[in-house]
Amino acid sequence: MRSTGDSPIGIFDSGYGGLTILHCIRQTLPQYDYIYLGDNARAPYGTRSFERVYEFTLQAVKYLFSQGCRLVILACNTASAKALRSIQQNDLPKIDSSRRVLGIIRPTVEVVGNITQSRHIGIMATEGTVRSKTYNLEIAKLHPDITVVGEACPMWVPLVENHEYDSPGADYFVHKHVNHLLQTDPLIDTVILGCTHYPLLLGKILKYVPTGVRIIPQGDYVAASLQDYLSRHSDMAARLSTGGTVRYLTTEQPSSFNPSATVFLGESVEAEGITLG
Ligand code: DGL
Repeated sequence: MRSTGDSPIGIFDSGYGGLTILHCIRQTLPQYDYIYLGDNARAPYGTRSFERVYEFTLQAVKYLFSQGCRLVILACNTASAKALRSIQQNDLPKIDSSRRVLGIIRPTVEVVGNITQSRHIGIMATEGTVRSKTYNLEIAKLHPDITVVGEACPMWVPLVENHEYDSPGADYFVHKHVNHLLQTDPLIDTVILGCTHYPLLLGKILKYVPTGVRIIPQGDYVAASLQDYLSRHSDMAARLSTGGTVRYLTTEQPSSFNPSATVFLGESVEAEGITLG
């Protein structure tokens, strides 16, 4: 059904990683209009403080609101872990309580309980996400019988942001963290890629993961969860515009964003450069 709404869906990430989420969301919900915002000039967020990630994420959310988005997805685990709750509880009521900001950790946590047999799971994520313990807390709420081990992989986002995800250097860092995680808890049978940049390293990750250990990228679960959300919130769904378009915004030079984003998405991207803050 075509809606008569005028709001695109905002998709935010610190850089390129959220494009993996946008890709899956568009496959599931191709009818909507989207605005993708990558804060590439200030990525990576993973090693930044709580205060900085919150400040930058709030700026991005406000920018997407100013572009007409009534619904924004934080397609970034680090931002979801460090900024989502404060934005939902403190900022949204002041800005406009009819707008929504959703994260991507909860949709991932919801499905993991049906996947692990051993009830031991690993989370590979940025230092910020691992340190925040958001995955551990959310999993403890929904699946208290599951043991969670987090593995911070601080080099993985820079490898992706700097287009080195296919290089021999990437092999070294991928092997190192996969090994360390599985040695820390050999009972792990399910590993969540808790950073939206990591699907770009999936080929290499699978090289080092023994058979029997399942790797879970988030995109499809986030897309299914958004679809479910919109089916339960018809008021929001009715406000979304349905032209099937995407606008790309970056805080970096578009000439540097476009070729990389084109590789990530497999389709040509023409971004607009913006400034946040
Ligand atoms: N892609 C983001 C995530 O999912 C963060 C990467 C970063 O900026 O460190 O955590």
